[in-house]
Amino acid sequence: MPSVRKPTSRFVHSLFLPLLLLVLLGGCSTGAPDSNSQTDPDQLATGKQVYEANCAACHGINGEGQPNWRTPVNGVFPAPPHDSSGHTWHHPDSALLEIIAQGGSLPNSAMPAYGDILTVGEREAVLAYIKTFWGKQERESQARGSR
Ligand code: HEC
Repeated sequence: MPSVRKPTSRFVHSLFLPLLLLVLLGGCSTGAPDSNSQTDPDQLATGKQVYEANCAACHGINGEGQPNWRTPVNGVFPAPPHDSSGHTWHHPDSALLEIIAQGGSLPNSAMPAYGDILTVGEREAVLAYIKTFWGKQERESQARGSR
């Protein structure tokens, strides 16, 4: 009876589109870009270069910071880590870019000011590179805080 088949085929059709969408979206989300892969690879390459030349000596090649970074030595704090174990990811982009340009705000801060040494683009690139030291959760949380 056509009256029976028709609703059935409509049912099948009504499932088809959502399923297709699910497959398409599912396919996309396996390689879903996180906040890092949205970053321009050229910018990351610049950031890595800038970081390794200017920052790694203190903050560590992988952003691990200096040992016992919470304890000042002769009144000067060692460099903190930039990886997930530190607190860099707790701060929005604006605050981090300001520290990079103006230097550290702590008294006797060892953090140099890069405002006259690096261009705005280089400072943004080095920040983008620092974000590669973070886990997905840290990146997402920091991205929300930077909006
Ligand atoms: C001579 C050592 C030294 C060098 C070189 C250095 N830093 Fe720092 N940096 C520090 C110290 C120490 C602090 C923490 C004290 C402060 O904030 O005053 C710091 C703090 C920071 C912070 C704030 C971190 C946070 O968790 O709040 C950022 C961001 C930062 N540095 C980025 C950079 C970048 C980018 C470079 C390279 C372009 C760089 N630093 C080079 C020593 C250094």
